[in-house]
Amino acid sequence: MRTTPMAPQCGVEISGVRLATCNDAEMQAIKQAIYERGVAVFRDQEFTPEQHIDFAHRWGGIDINNYFPLQDEYPEIAIVRKAADQQTNIGGAWHTDHSYDQIPAMGSILVARLLPPEGGDTLFAHMGAAYDNLPDELKAEIEGLEAFHTADHVYKADGLYAQTDMGRDLRGQDMKTGAVHPVVIRHPVTGRKLLYVNSAFTIHFVGQTREESLPLLRRLFDAAVGEDNQCRVEWRPGTVAIWDNRTTWHNALNDYQGHAREMHRITLSGEALAA
Ligand code: SIN
Repeated sequence: MRTTPMAPQCGVEISGVRLATCNDAEMQAIKQAIYERGVAVFRDQEFTPEQHIDFAHRWGGIDINNYFPLQDEYPEIAIVRKAADQQTNIGGAWHTDHSYDQIPAMGSILVARLLPPEGGDTLFAHMGAAYDNLPDELKAEIEGLEAFHTADHVYKADGLYAQTDMGRDLRGQDMKTGAVHPVVIRHPVTGRKLLYVNSAFTIHFVGQTREESLPLLRRLFDAAVGEDNQCRVEWRPGTVAIWDNRTTWHNALNDYQGHAREMHRITLSGEALAA
């Protein structure tokens, strides 16, 4: 198994391993690489839906997504699909999956099933690097703060997606979500400090209104996506990417209008987050 960094701070490409049949030592090395680098990319994988699900269970539980369409036969698999005639994509803004849950998902395993001829890459940003790069006075300002996260403004019947042509495909418009997490968490395995707010789902700091929170939130959001923290996943047929939702944000680029794209995602259960 060979690992090649994708960018100085974020991402690793791992070759010489077949995910569907990897042994326990390889699995352990894959997990460690993802915890540290945030996202790992694997090329030329044969990964049936059953193998996708079996591989996900080697991490622990599966969190079924409340909103995306699910595969009829395999409800563990969420479909991230944009049809050729749709304008809006799923996940086309910086976010981390499921931060609005009390126990946010640990990670996601995304398999490319149908790709546009060009475009449709996914950007990732490393929240350990983002935290490390904050000026000391900003680190002091956010020490001990907690923030409220929700997805209601995104997925509800009067939410952002409902006002687009993606609204018709999504479920869960009556769901209500909300969770409080520390603004700086420690990675449960590596212990590294990570910035844990994101521009899609983090609404305000606890004890402050949205208006009071916005100036500091905006500074953190800008710092989080510094180019030095980022890497870019270029999808090819047979590509699988696995990321750690505590360590990264991601953003699915919507630059392939007129073409379809379909990815299959399993979201991996996590654990309560702590400062
Ligand atoms: C997502 O999980 O947000 C979608 C990522 C992608 O489609 O590249």
